[in-house]
Amino acid sequence: MRLRRRRPDAGPPGTVDVAASGDVPTAPPFLEVKVAGERVLLVRTPAGLAAFGAACPHLGQPLKRGELDGTTLTCRHHRHRYDVTDGTCVWPGPGDDGLVLLEAGETDGRVWVRPPTGRG
Ligand code: FES
Repeated sequence: MRLRRRRPDAGPPGTVDVAASGDVPTAPPFLEVKVAGERVLLVRTPAGLAAFGAACPHLGQPLKRGELDGTTLTCRHHRHRYDVTDGTCVWPGPGDDGLVLLEAGETDGRVWVRPPTGRG
């Protein structure tokens, strides 16, 4: 896990600088960073950058080496699938817990993430 020094000028107020844009992969292993003490996974898909909790909502296994097909991430452990654009569990179904997405973006070649409410 790589930890990045905070650069407060990289993104909007209240966000944390976490990586260079070029460090966010389109294939596993995905980039895991810490934001306000939480493990966050960064993934680049055809729809753009996504940031979400690094542990699978099913049983908490790491998603870092999941399989990415378009915007769908499949956990290697029990094959639950998630749409990383909205966090929905697409298999086994939307009744299952989804990903916890975090607001993220890029400014001047740097990636920023907004910590969960009340953290930072
Ligand atoms: S821990 Fe990911 S599908 Fe079970």
